[in-house]
Amino acid sequence: MSERKRVMIPIRVEPGSDLPDAERRVVLEAVQNNRALEGSLLPILHAIQDRIGWIPPRLLPLIAHELNLSRAEVHGVVSFYHYFRQHQPGQHVIFLCRAEACQAVGAVQLEAHAKRALGVDFHGTSGDGRYTLEPVYCLGNCATGPSLMIDRELHGRMTPERFDELIGGRGGGAGAGAGA
Ligand code: FES
Repeated sequence: MSERKRVMIPIRVEPGSDLPDAERRVVLEAVQNNRALEGSLLPILHAIQDRIGWIPPRLLPLIAHELNLSRAEVHGVVSFYHYFRQHQPGQHVIFLCRAEACQAVGAVQLEAHAKRALGVDFHGTSGDGRYTLEPVYCLGNCATGPSLMIDRELHGRMTPERFDELIGGRGGGAGAGAGA
């Protein structure tokens, strides 16, 4: 009686084939537009975050495949730079300036107030999902600090009161609750 041998045929899954079409397209376009640059991974990650708002971990295999890098290498760069978000941001992203000129005119107090009002630390998102708080080191608005940027709008001479008005006008506000 002959013995049948089982042969396992490995199934090759194309990196990125499991991604939503829109995300796959964003990655491929970012790669195509930046591949020729020296150190192309950084501009590619910037382009992806500009379009999607963060770098979802599910994109890493496709990015790595396209650049002929390991997934660990891409992950290493994403996690090294705080600028790259590994979690989906809130509806509005607030960049608070922590550089010297702003610190000299009240940025420290503003930072403490913003963290308390939103219930988050830097890189966190308020419990209602509306606000993500990020540090930034100079927004080029030093003469009229403390400065912050929200949804790409620059605001100077920011005070805790003006901060509350700003976020109150977008919905939410003090006590928005803690988030990761
Ligand atoms: S130091 Fe804050 S905008 Fe330049």
